[in-house]
Amino acid sequence: MERCGIVLAGGTGSRLYPVTIALSKQLLPIHDKPMIYYPLSVLMLANIREILLISTPHDIGLFERLLGDGSQFGLFISYAVQPYPRGLAEAYKIGEKFVQGRPSCLILGDNLLYGHSLSATLNKATQKKQGATIFGYHVSNPSAYGVVEFDRSMRVISIEEKPLKPKSSYAIPGIYFYDGRAPSFAHQLKPSARGELEITDLNKKYWEEGSLDVELLGRGIAWLDTGTHDLLYDASLFVKTIEQRQGLKIGCLEEIAYHKGWIGEEQLQSQIKKMGNSSYANYLRHLLETPRTFV
Ligand code: G1P
Repeated sequence: MERCGIVLAGGTGSRLYPVTIALSKQLLPIHDKPMIYYPLSVLMLANIREILLISTPHDIGLFERLLGDGSQFGLFISYAVQPYPRGLAEAYKIGEKFVQGRPSCLILGDNLLYGHSLSATLNKATQKKQGATIFGYHVSNPSAYGVVEFDRSMRVISIEEKPLKPKSSYAIPGIYFYDGRAPSFAHQLKPSARGELEITDLNKKYWEEGSLDVELLGRGIAWLDTGTHDLLYDASLFVKTIEQRQGLKIGCLEEIAYHKGWIGEEQLQSQIKKMGNSSYANYLRHLLETPRTFV
């Protein structure tokens, strides 16, 4: 059974107020494209094409307007609503019918992941049939995240959500690979002290039965947070710096789809027409003129 994807783009984004009072955080620009493009690109690099996007009742229409049915990116995107921010694991209660017992990957709509070995790491996780895979990323401020502690043979010793005294420096990025049982585990969860179904508790279900793998994302990978005004700006600057230096875009959905053969020249042409006079349109135009090598 092919792995499906869920992008969770809910929440109030209150740490970014007043920027996010009228507009969903995940639609804010990271340099030259909306934030949501970046997690979508990560799912595409993991060869996941069938995607459920979950957002708030008042934002969901904006995502539909931006992304439609996803066919312009060779994707199959459907939509669902999370009425209240009741936690990341609730995505699996909302998405149960979509998942239909298939393995899945949940990615948070505000996580930016980028790096050369990322595709290979993701594809390894995609291919795992049973259990779950989470990732560990060394950060300077682990208490802001879920934290994983592991031994020399990469066996998980503990996982904790935003611990005051973290047991390791490895934060758990917002991308999780689960087998088909994630919805049934989600139904067993109880809300935490902050009233949310915690993704850390879902991960613990797999850990308790010994089927939780942790893979490290090394120094060559960038995992950026976009949760505050400063971090949002830093993420934009990161994307701008790399894109200008290389002349290659990060998170260009048409490019990934074109190089994977999910869309053809005609679809790319029609996207170019839609992109107006932007530098994004020029980049897509350039793709048509260059051989299909993807670096
Ligand atoms: C959530 C998760 C946390 C994870 C983080 C990644 O936290 O609860 O475990 O490390 O996403 O972005 P949030 O940022 O929603 O508070």
